Amino acid sequence: MTKIDFTRADFPENFLFGAATSSYQIEGHGFGGAGPTHWDSFAATPGNVVRAEHGLRACDHYHRFEEDLDLIKAAGFDAYRFSTSWARVMPEGRGEPNPEGLDFYDRLTDAMLERGLKPCVTLYHWELPQPLADMGGWRNRDIAGWFGDFAEVIMGRIGDRMHSAAPVNEPWCVAWLSHFQGHHAPGLRDIRAAARAMHNVLLAHGTATQVMRGLGMQNLGAIFNFEWAQPVDDSAAAQDAAALYDAIYNRFLLGGVFKGEYPAEVLAALEPHLPEGWQDDFPVIQSPVDWCGLNYYTRKVIAPCDGPWPAHEEVDGPLPKTQMGWEIYPDGLYKFLHRTAAEYTGDLPLLITENGMANPDVLQNGAVADPARIAYINAHLAKVKQAADEGVPVAGYFLWSLLDNYEWALGYEKRFGLVHVDFESLQRTPKDSYKALMFALTR
Ligand code: FCB
Repeated sequence: MTKIDFTRADFPENFLFGAATSSYQIEGHGFGGAGPTHWDSFAATPGNVVRAEHGLRACDHYHRFEEDLDLIKAAGFDAYRFSTSWARVMPEGRGEPNPEGLDFYDRLTDAMLERGLKPCVTLYHWELPQPLADMGGWRNRDIAGWFGDFAEVIMGRIGDRMHSAAPVNEPWCVAWLSHFQGHHAPGLRDIRAAARAMHNVLLAHGTATQVMRGLGMQNLGAIFNFEWAQPVDDSAAAQDAAALYDAIYNRFLLGGVFKGEYPAEVLAALEPHLPEGWQDDFPVIQSPVDWCGLNYYTRKVIAPCDGPWPAHEEVDGPLPKTQMGWEIYPDGLYKFLHRTAAEYTGDLPLLITENGMANPDVLQNGAVADPARIAYINAHLAKVKQAADEGVPVAGYFLWSLLDNYEWALGYEKRFGLVHVDFESLQRTPKDSYKALMFALTR
């Protein structure tokens, strides 16, 4: 069996190794009195999700979390990155909390602590309560206040026991992927909606950060996704196209939180659509954080194209690809670690809060051979180590994901887990990558 090439001794002292999941992707949203979300509506609309699959049962983590936490512990991980479902905690999005939902996250937290796992919570990983979506969701500036109230309720219950907390997973996906590209709920393709969502998601981040500080919580962060933008060729037009992709994808949201400004080339198109007085929101958006999380999977090869702004497109790249069709490009992680520290975050600790790959894994004789995943992890850990050795303050690495799960618009087809899930029987089977990590982490 292929091995993990590293041990803990290769990384800085107190470096955290963790596994990551999210609520809607694993819990089973049909259980425990959770309210409807925009993902349920999106999935119920033909053409949005492979086989119109949804998260109502998912991995049934809601009932099987003890077994899942045992797997995290046995692998030798220090930490578990999970998320809280807004609609489970507040089925209407506002007002009365659902006691069953609060009890669930309370039990989950205690079960982590009993096993010596550090709870690393993300408050929002994409399942917006439908009643809030009905009022405009991320397009409505009021969402910052609604989200602050949710933060107060859920962290009022479990915040005292969190090792770390981040308000929003991947603001680019919340805003751009879902309101400009239309690939995720609510499936809009509208520049005005996208502009507002890009800004409001940061206002919500800052508001929740302030609420959590008010509760006395510490170790608060922000989690962004990154894709390296590779120009298709040396032409000036291709360089410009890739630079614009980079500005929208990687620089806009980081710029808001860490510099209090948005890149000019993006503002040129979005400013007319931003809510009035948007500049005055930066003091809230820039509420100090204690760390920055990077989710990293791939790069995109970008070419200019005809048509309205942003007039660029992704083209097929030459590198080996994962089951997602994503090129494997570990150098991108290395470059983002350096660039983020140098240009945005300085001495703040950086954590890789997601990295991993989908693979067409097959269960055979009670085992899953996934050498490609082990190679992917090795290649990325090598880049994390190189950046750490060169002085980048990188403090942890979380695998996406513990379990095969609901991969959003791609349904249950794309398997990202270290642990295989049979979606009929819901049986969990650790893959070879899980065993290799266990060997490396418990040595
Ligand atoms: C990230 C998401 C996560 C999962 C991985 C593959 O963008 O945060 O939920 O879908 O991609």
